[in-house]
Amino acid sequence: MSLVRKKSIASIHKEHESRAQESLLKHLGVKDLTAFGIAAIIGAGIFSTIGKASADGGPGVILLFIFTALACSFAAFAYAEFSSLIPVSGSAYTYSYVVFGEVFAWIIGWALIMEYSIGNVTVAISWSDYFTALLEHVSPYRLPEWMGMDYFSAKESYFVVLEKMRSGLSLDELAAQGGNVMLLDGYHAIQQAPMVLGINVVLDVPALLINLLITWLVYRGIKESRNASNIMVLIKIVIVLLVIFVGAFYVDVSNWNPFLPNGISGLLSGISAVFFAYIGFDAISTTAEECKNPQRDLPRGILYSIIICTVLYVAIALVITGMVHHSELAVGDPLAYVFSKIKDLQWLAGIVAVSAVVAMASVMLVFQLGQPRIWMSMSRDGLLPPAFARIHKKYKTPSFSTLFTGLMVAVPIFFLDINIVTDICSAGTLFAFCMVCGGVLKLRMDPNAPPSKFKTPYLNSKYITGGLFVLSLILLFTYEPEYMNTLLMPSGFSSFLHNTPMYVFFIGFAFLSVFSFRYNFSLIPVLGLLSCFYMLSQLGYKNWLYFTAWLLLGLLIYFVYGRKHSKLAVLKR
Ligand code: ALA
Repeated sequence: MSLVRKKSIASIHKEHESRAQESLLKHLGVKDLTAFGIAAIIGAGIFSTIGKASADGGPGVILLFIFTALACSFAAFAYAEFSSLIPVSGSAYTYSYVVFGEVFAWIIGWALIMEYSIGNVTVAISWSDYFTALLEHVSPYRLPEWMGMDYFSAKESYFVVLEKMRSGLSLDELAAQGGNVMLLDGYHAIQQAPMVLGINVVLDVPALLINLLITWLVYRGIKESRNASNIMVLIKIVIVLLVIFVGAFYVDVSNWNPFLPNGISGLLSGISAVFFAYIGFDAISTTAEECKNPQRDLPRGILYSIIICTVLYVAIALVITGMVHHSELAVGDPLAYVFSKIKDLQWLAGIVAVSAVVAMASVMLVFQLGQPRIWMSMSRDGLLPPAFARIHKKYKTPSFSTLFTGLMVAVPIFFLDINIVTDICSAGTLFAFCMVCGGVLKLRMDPNAPPSKFKTPYLNSKYITGGLFVLSLILLFTYEPEYMNTLLMPSGFSSFLHNTPMYVFFIGFAFLSVFSFRYNFSLIPVLGLLSCFYMLSQLGYKNWLYFTAWLLLGLLIYFVYGRKHSKLAVLKR
């Protein structure tokens, strides 16, 4: 039995037409899609995680924003090409099914759970932080600590505080030391939490509630989701523009010097956070079946939303690193923070916090919309049980998948560590981007592949990929000799392990150079593949290990269930 059974594009179109009776409602135009893209992109990344990236990278973080935007745009071309060729809901999952075959499609579908479900866990937890702070600001109410965090973080903090108290420090002294807010919150959470069956009940109630609300909205219908999304996008763009224009008057250009205070390594440590800020544009492609004219509008929606967000991100990064010294930006709410420092503008800090709550809710909305549609596609192919493809009779949404997604987001909220989750979400997404870029290259190797209505501009990479490979080696040996030394002569097994992602990257780069030469690959998807692969290699070997474990679990499920129930297997019998 072949391991790489594939579907043809023609068969996907045929299946799609035969489902006309139970099809989803077509409400989305190019404006809605662009709005969906912005809704998915601008969120926890720009409101929260870029704080640390800016503190480590300095004003030069704008270079990281530009590099990441380029990488995402290269990948976006690949998404645009595929989504206009195969305008059905499965996104990267369906594209891989056509190009690489079923097992790879399953792997991608499985990796996308990392992006959408796990990504939403991150956003829900950040949302809860902003919401709790806002509640304290605008009302006399304060949520008890046990209602605002996960159990394991609270327990860990509790033991750290106990240890410090044993060494003679009092709670008041700890509070006075500063920097212990999270620890003390965790301590109080465990102290005050009600007990059920001998366990302290500590749970992030706002994160669970926002997840419930979003799940309900997405369950109710695409039109309702679109309207809610459009309003939220409008609010967040107005606020982001306000931050840029008002903030520009308070920029002190001396803060931009030095531009790269911690060098390239300081800059690169922010890759995951900055990339996280861009994740989401690809979610647009999951709404393909709900578009009025997907072949024309999807590519435009994807590219417009990336361009708009890049301009806004670079401007914001310039403004915040100009308003305060970069070292001050390692806070969870950098945009509100820079204004809270200026006496006349503290009102704006409050508005920024409100808009952060709105912005993150809209990210959740789009992700929560994307995940069920991928599951629906996997179920239609027989790789998941039929319930995942069920469409609600009245609301015309994938009902079971939507509720299941809500559950998938809710469960980890009880115990997940937000930092790990951000990295894993970025890893899953980058992996999917690499597969989609590679997919376009593979597709175009086939002379019989149908033309797409949207075609990525072709530039021959024949000599360029190899040239870039040689150039990067020359630059690294010239400017980073120590780094190359540790790569070529690791000091031990642990050092070797740390280097593994880079080895894989360089081996991949070398292969790509050969293939580009041999098959005249198109340059844009090659650059997309290289840049996303590079970012993946910067995420650290631990994330690679987690991600590999996740993929192995997925493969186990595939071979136990999906492979036997696949429609392609059934057809062959
Ligand atoms: N780009 C999305 C955000 O920043 C995931 O929240």
